[in-house]
Amino acid sequence: MRVLRSVRVRIIALYMAILLLSLTLFSFVLFRDLERMLNDDIDKLLKSRAQGVADSVNTYWEAEKLEVAGGGIMARSLSKIGNANFVKIAQRWVMDRTDDPELLGIIVQIFDVKGGQIASSKTVPEMDSLPPDVFRSVLLGGKRFDDFPAAPASGNPVSLRALTIPVVENQRVAYIVRVLGPLTSLDFLLRDFRLIVFILFPIAVVLSGVVGSIMARVTLRPINRMIETIHAITGENLRLRLTLPESKDEVRRLADTFNDMLARLEQAFTSQRLFIEDLTHELKTPLAVLKGELEVTLKRMRSAREYESVLESSLEEIDRIIRIVEDLLVLARLEKGVAALDKEDLEAGELVAQCVEDIRVLAEPKGISVRFESKDGTNVWGDSVRLRQLFLNVLDNAIKYTPPGGEVEVEVVREVEWVKITVRDTGPGIPEKDLPRIFGRFFRGQGHGREKGFGLGLSIAKAIAEAHGGRIEVSIAAGGGTCFDMFLPIRPPARFSAVSGDPSVPRKY
Ligand SMILES: Nc1ncnc2c1ncn2[C@@H]1O[C@H](COP(=O)(O)OP(=O)(O)OP(=O)(O)O)[C@@H](O)[C@H]1O
Ligand SMILES: [Mg+2]
Repeated sequence: MRVLRSVRVRIIALYMAILLLSLTLFSFVLFRDLERMLNDDIDKLLKSRAQGVADSVNTYWEAEKLEVAGGGIMARSLSKIGNANFVKIAQRWVMDRTDDPELLGIIVQIFDVKGGQIASSKTVPEMDSLPPDVFRSVLLGGKRFDDFPAAPASGNPVSLRALTIPVVENQRVAYIVRVLGPLTSLDFLLRDFRLIVFILFPIAVVLSGVVGSIMARVTLRPINRMIETIHAITGENLRLRLTLPESKDEVRRLADTFNDMLARLEQAFTSQRLFIEDLTHELKTPLAVLKGELEVTLKRMRSAREYESVLESSLEEIDRIIRIVEDLLVLARLEKGVAALDKEDLEAGELVAQCVEDIRVLAEPKGISVRFESKDGTNVWGDSVRLRQLFLNVLDNAIKYTPPGGEVEVEVVREVEWVKITVRDTGPGIPEKDLPRIFGRFFRGQGHGREKGFGLGLSIAKAIAEAHGGRIEVSIAAGGGTCFDMFLPIRPPARFSAVSGDPSVPRKY
């Protein structure tokens, strides 16, 4: 039963059964048609021979009757019925015609109107008289075909087909002609047909089954190889890929699809692992600091003031831990695409303006001037909380890394397909070698103190922009500072948007 579970065996078995069935059906139909055609041929031949015999016997009689009857005017009206002279003439005709090539293989018999045999070109003992029903129907209705089995002295038994016709004279049946022909070609056909059905068909079916099975094995070999590779794949070695077959067929497409899936899985696994690695790595230091401080404090009795200061610094450390965990969680969710964005129709310019106002609190103590400019029509379809986080992260950096007295320029413009938000500062800029890395997790430029951040702000900004179908780019500003460009897809007017429906109803995606 295990064998039957193989696709190959099932397909071959089905294929062989269908082949056998269609071959048999086809040959039965063919046989039936051939049989009918051959029968028609024999019938046509018998008809023409029977008519020929009747005509010839009549002519013979006309020529001979005067001579046989001894001449005289009476001879002209001599009837064949019950006429001994006709019997003689018919017998002579039969004798004369035994070697006629037209009658080769055909037995000619002549009967009188009582059904008695007058003459026969060959002695066929079992058929020297007319069966009563044949006799009756010929007298009443005309010609009649019959089949007889005949057992010759030597050779295979054959069937004989007989045509019996009445020969009419002065509207009365004068005598009866019967011609018999062998159905040999039909017998041969039947024998050949049996040979084909019982011997050749099974051989053909088995042969095609064997060839089909070999072909199926060759075709399925890559699948078996794929199964082996898939067995070897575990969570740890997701880097394995299926070897692609040369052909461009379905198997190749299956392997391609599987490899794509493996790539996605590997990416998901890697980001999961990175998240856990980052989390443990980043939590270790603040937790160790916290533990150390608390241990040292507990070594001896302290004053209330000292306890208060330790608790305050512990709280600060705990805040840092909470922020790291929160940031990493947000990042992991955004990157995996599981963070549900609460999207609504937003004026990006207004949102950025609010963020600029919020950030002024940090800018003023440092004497940094913040310039803001926005055009109308900067609608985007987005999550206001997340977008605020994106803008604040970039603005926070601009203030944080720009030395006192510097300048920050913020601009919101509408482009063909995007709303573009630019944040430009007059700070020290980012070294060119760091540019490709600044959006990576925990990347921090050289020379920034530990207290200034974790290196997660820009990773989160990038993830938020991408979750909105946008992007963020960094470049060196004209004066040497840093320039961030954020692109968010514009919100098309409601009448062009078939998917989003009524813009007044915020949808969740
Ligand atoms: N406007 C800027 N000017 C100069 N350097 C910048 C600027 N913005 C970012 N950087 C560099 O890119 C690094 C990564 O920035 P990111 O915002 O990801 O982290 P962070 O600001 O150090 O920490 P966090 O934002 O998590 O508090 C920074 O450490 C800094 O070196
Ligand atoms: Mg930052």
